[in-house]
Amino acid sequence: MKPLQLGATGLIAGALLTAGCADLYSSPAATRAMGPPFGGADDVAYAHDLWNAMQRRHLVGPGAIMSAPYTGTHPHGAILDTVDARVQVRSDEGPVIIKRNYRGKDVSKSNVANNPGKYLKAVTVMFKRPGYDPEDRDWFWVKYAPDGSILKNPKGMTLAGRVAKGKPMGCIACHKGAPGGDMVFNHDRYR
Ligand code: HEC
Repeated sequence: MKPLQLGATGLIAGALLTAGCADLYSSPAATRAMGPPFGGADDVAYAHDLWNAMQRRHLVGPGAIMSAPYTGTHPHGAILDTVDARVQVRSDEGPVIIKRNYRGKDVSKSNVANNPGKYLKAVTVMFKRPGYDPEDRDWFWVKYAPDGSILKNPKGMTLAGRVAKGKPMGCIACHKGAPGGDMVFNHDRYR
């Protein structure tokens, strides 16, 4: 079963089937052969610069601009909100998509709207970084904790860069199944 073979309607089923498989993001053998495919020092430094660029635009951090919370799908969380913007990171200027993932006791759209900080568990981001990964639409992927630190997968790999590239599961594999060929589920503006 490969998520990229699924049509849009098969996506939810595929997502459910892949639940609990996050530890397949990487295998030690692959890491030894190729060096870190993601989460290396360069990716981590870039992800910190990206966070700072977003924070300057009030897109992350305390009092961040948000959209109306909606009911989410696996793996992103019970309630989500997504914001599209453009930012400049170093000399790279491009679109960024920020998805906030909310969970916790009594989580609901209205509770999140009233008190987002209480439920925010992770901030997943795609930034179109020119020339970074032409094969996969140049997206730079990061999963941050609410304070801007970068989260790790169960194998201890930092989730920044070409996350889980070449693996059957993870950001890139799953998002390859998004309609429009742009790896974005919610729209096709960056085709
Ligand atoms: C198993 C499938 C799957 C995996 C793995 C996955 N996503 Fe997603 N992602 C989705 C789906 C489905 C949506 C649309 C959900 C929605 O907004 O309701 C989405 C939406 C997003 C969005 C908003 C843009 C869009 O595509 O609509 C961002 C940003 C994002 N994901 C980042 C990430 C990052 C970063 C990772 C890895 C750390 C990741 N995703 C892993 C399925 C996945």
